[in-house]
Amino acid sequence: MRTTAVAHPNIALLKYWGKQDAPGNLPATPSLSITLDSLTTTTTVAEADSDQFRLNGQVAADAKVLRTLANWRRDHPIPPLAISSRNNFPTAAGLASSASGFAALATAVDAHCGLGLTKAERSELARRGSASAARSIHGGFVTLAGPDWRAAQLLPGAAWPLRVVVAIAATGPKAVPSTEGMERSRTTSPHFDAWVASAAPDFAAMKQAVSTRDFAALADLAEASCLQMHALMFSSRPPLLYWTGATVECLRTIRELRAEGCQVFATVDAGPQVKAVCEPRDAERVEAALRRIGGVAETLQAGLGPGATASIQRAISANACCSLHS
Ligand code: PMV
Repeated sequence: MRTTAVAHPNIALLKYWGKQDAPGNLPATPSLSITLDSLTTTTTVAEADSDQFRLNGQVAADAKVLRTLANWRRDHPIPPLAISSRNNFPTAAGLASSASGFAALATAVDAHCGLGLTKAERSELARRGSASAARSIHGGFVTLAGPDWRAAQLLPGAAWPLRVVVAIAATGPKAVPSTEGMERSRTTSPHFDAWVASAAPDFAAMKQAVSTRDFAALADLAEASCLQMHALMFSSRPPLLYWTGATVECLRTIRELRAEGCQVFATVDAGPQVKAVCEPRDAERVEAALRRIGGVAETLQAGLGPGATASIQRAISANACCSLHS
């Protein structure tokens, strides 16, 4: 028996950066994200003699995956697993591959081992691997906030079908992984306490902007959150600089497009890629403008996608199988 799960990365519009000084991999601040559709992680699990992990076809000794499985096994009966995961987009480059990766893994393990978890419980499992993964369990607009730190859907994507244009400025893995970078910011940035203090009112305001489909308010809050997060990164010691020159050029171009009347705003995660979130009618113009920027290797477009799902393949004869969808 094999189980395959599919999950999509999510992009935080209200960012979290920094964890609580407590067990459970809990963010220090609430966050609000959108789940994408065309970027996909597909993860297959099957029982094995010992844990094995393959990423994009290569054997990978991923300490985070093994640590997370050990953590899940404290609460759930999970046998040794052969795990094979594939991304159809650059891995570990600020495109939220760990979010879709741990959401797919939690979903595959839940279905494969018959754990019978609710979406909220699956979100908690995913969060223990990577906090942002909690949000990829759900589709559309998703919140992750205390006190339980399990993600919840705020609005389905179809209710406000925004588009996302991703400008890929560099495809290598990031220099400083996000967990290490967050800890550096928490312990060294003089602005960390101000960041935490502003999170609750900004979270309330962004939930309101999404609920009322107020694009201008969402744009204002999302760009402020993104630039505050990068200000924290810049003010850490040693500083965290994930941007390239193309990142800055994309940010400037998106501002110009907005000044010309496009409904578009920018967000950037722990990597150089710029995600331009826009109304569908402006997507082609935004993509054409970003593609023209020197240093932008590629652009991608995505809509808002669904949460993670799994299907079980049971071999019933040498050349036939049946699928059960969850
Ligand atoms: O939970 P992680 O380790 O995937 O970190 C996510 C950090 C950001 O993407 C920069 C922000 C966020 O809220 O997703």
